[in-house]
Amino acid sequence: MAATAQAVIGKDVARIDGERKVTGAASYGSDFALPDQTYAFLVTSTIAHGRVRRIDEAAARRVPGVIAVYTHLDMAGKVKPGKLMADGGYMGTSIQPLTSPDILHDGQIVAVVVGETFESAREGAYRLDISYHQAPASAGFGDAGVETVAAEEASKSHEDPKIGDAATAFQQAALRIDASYSTPTQHHNPIELFTTLCHWSDGKLTVWESSQNVWGYKYGLAEQLGIDPNDIRVVSPFIGGAFGSRGSLTPRTAIIAEIARQLQRPVKLAPTRDQGFTIATYRAETRHHMKLGATLDGKLVSLSHEAWEVTSRPDNYMVSGTKATTRLYRCPNVYSKVSIVHADRNTPGFMRSPPELPYLFALESAIDELAVAAGIDPIELRRINDTQVEPIKGLPYTSRSLMACFDAGAKAFGWHDRNPKPGSMRDGDWLIGWGCASTMYPTAVAPAAAKVRLMPDGKAIVQTAAHDIGTGAYTVIGQVAAERLGLPLENIEVQIGDSALPPAPVAGGSNTTASVCNVIAKACDRLRHQLFQQSNAASTKDMSAMSLASVLGDLPKEGMEAYAENLPHGTKPDSIGKLYQGHSTLAGGSELKDRIQFAFGAEFVELRIHRLTKEIRCSRLLGAFACGRIVNPRTARSQLMGGLIWGLSSALHEETEIDQASARYYNDDLAEYLIPVNADVRQVEVLLVPEEDKAVNDLGIKGLGELGNVGTNAAVANAVYHATGLRIRDLPIRLEDLL
Ligand code: MOS
Repeated sequence: MAATAQAVIGKDVARIDGERKVTGAASYGSDFALPDQTYAFLVTSTIAHGRVRRIDEAAARRVPGVIAVYTHLDMAGKVKPGKLMADGGYMGTSIQPLTSPDILHDGQIVAVVVGETFESAREGAYRLDISYHQAPASAGFGDAGVETVAAEEASKSHEDPKIGDAATAFQQAALRIDASYSTPTQHHNPIELFTTLCHWSDGKLTVWESSQNVWGYKYGLAEQLGIDPNDIRVVSPFIGGAFGSRGSLTPRTAIIAEIARQLQRPVKLAPTRDQGFTIATYRAETRHHMKLGATLDGKLVSLSHEAWEVTSRPDNYMVSGTKATTRLYRCPNVYSKVSIVHADRNTPGFMRSPPELPYLFALESAIDELAVAAGIDPIELRRINDTQVEPIKGLPYTSRSLMACFDAGAKAFGWHDRNPKPGSMRDGDWLIGWGCASTMYPTAVAPAAAKVRLMPDGKAIVQTAAHDIGTGAYTVIGQVAAERLGLPLENIEVQIGDSALPPAPVAGGSNTTASVCNVIAKACDRLRHQLFQQSNAASTKDMSAMSLASVLGDLPKEGMEAYAENLPHGTKPDSIGKLYQGHSTLAGGSELKDRIQFAFGAEFVELRIHRLTKEIRCSRLLGAFACGRIVNPRTARSQLMGGLIWGLSSALHEETEIDQASARYYNDDLAEYLIPVNADVRQVEVLLVPEEDKAVNDLGIKGLGELGNVGTNAAVANAVYHATGLRIRDLPIRLEDLL
């Protein structure tokens, strides 16, 4: 660690981009505008399965201002379908609309109308007359037309963790829990819609689109459009919410780019909210069958987690959260199996804590059921089964502070005052329920590259193609550079979100802070080294302790630049090369050969449920989290607080409803897709439990963005049980479930 003038890492500092955001100076994807730009409006299918029979464009073309109409008849062969990200590609789906008349899901793009104004394009789109050959559509679970495939058959790389003989151990166990759970379809609904703006100039394409993966987009678009990736630039300095929905390319971008190429004018697309439900990705519904066997004193002897996930017809997308749930507790006999269910749906994708949120709901509900069956406090049951070594391969956790989190959280929450008897705690007509659950999230670190340039006036410019999805990436990057260079934070200019910058990984799997801060630190150290080597002062002193001020005068006008790459533990040497082809290599979690790395936390929920009406109110949320070194407690707290609220939302509010007969979504707007409002969220408390982990990476950073919303849903369900004695195993929990 450089002993520089000031410690900036770990300081509670305000966002360096905060002022730009609140004054409107920050430009989000759709804020960019170009002279002579045209406007595109999408037309999406009103059936989930079948073919386009006929499209009558006459009325649309008569709308004043309409420039062009594009359907599969015009676009077939112009844009190549891309590979799914999980299969080594860049896409969120392999379904590329407008390549044929085939319809594979509700709301698939079937036409694009381009106009001189947004209004003319929209009017033209509304006047397009489309008829279909409709085929039967399967919505998902419970539908006869679905096809269920074991994940191990669907994907060569998939492995179902198991050890020992879980079936026999379960049969012989003194205590047994055997229960099924389910979680619903959910949509991210970032406030910024799924817009894109594409412009060609001298054969080169620029795309302004909010993205969690600018380098990935550049390479994916190059493949789809059949051009050199070096002729593509993706610009995304500010992002109005992403949560996984902008991590992989969606089909719209190449379509709009191709139309802009044909028209030789910039084309801007601003889809509607309901279109966002079907042209982007979502969290698929899941089902779980849990079997826990334990001794009378609460020791787990058998754990079995079977799960099913819905996906589209062509894609084997899955989240497979058993990698986490089979490793949370000590258990000698573990079985797991994931299956995927192909239905007539669009391909699901990453949505905040993709595997852990649904899978830990099942595990942490079942653990609570076991605690009740054993007559043991649920925190004590977790302590009995706590471990520093994961049970599948016997690998040590780099650090694991789960029980420290429970202890700190229980103290702050007042857990020892809890009467465990359901329905025993009341406030007048309100039944009080207290529930808790564990959270865990893999610590992923990815290769990254960065440049730092120091100017003679003592200002520094830091460049890396990282992404700030609202998490505070600008600020933590600035903090690391300020500390390593020994400069005030206001001297640091952070440039990110542009594929013209040195590559950084996808902002996914909560890896950004750990991946990017480590490479920034390296670039800064290298710059110091270069600088002092060049100046004569270097020979005698420890360079890391020297002030830059003494050598600034020696700098040329254009300053001095240093470049660095970082290859984290567990990544192969060629992963820098892959990074330069838009592929991120996330290493960590349970994927490493010699160790396992996760962040942990404990979540507590207080519910008030009305005795007569069964109205459910959440009066308190509290989370205690240990995530290695905290670069900025303010942005960390903000992420975790948002996570707790979203976790509450996943338990009580959110569900995308699907019409079983037509396989179409019917609450695809923010009026009917429920999310918590301020009145639903009363007291939220976040405790940061100190944790030092030197193994995860040089700076000791664990990701925390996705840790907060895992486990909250189970804590809510466990609190419902404590308040009412009713065990609700299917989310979301609504008052009709309690009547
Ligand atoms: Mo996260 S779903 O990896 O943005």
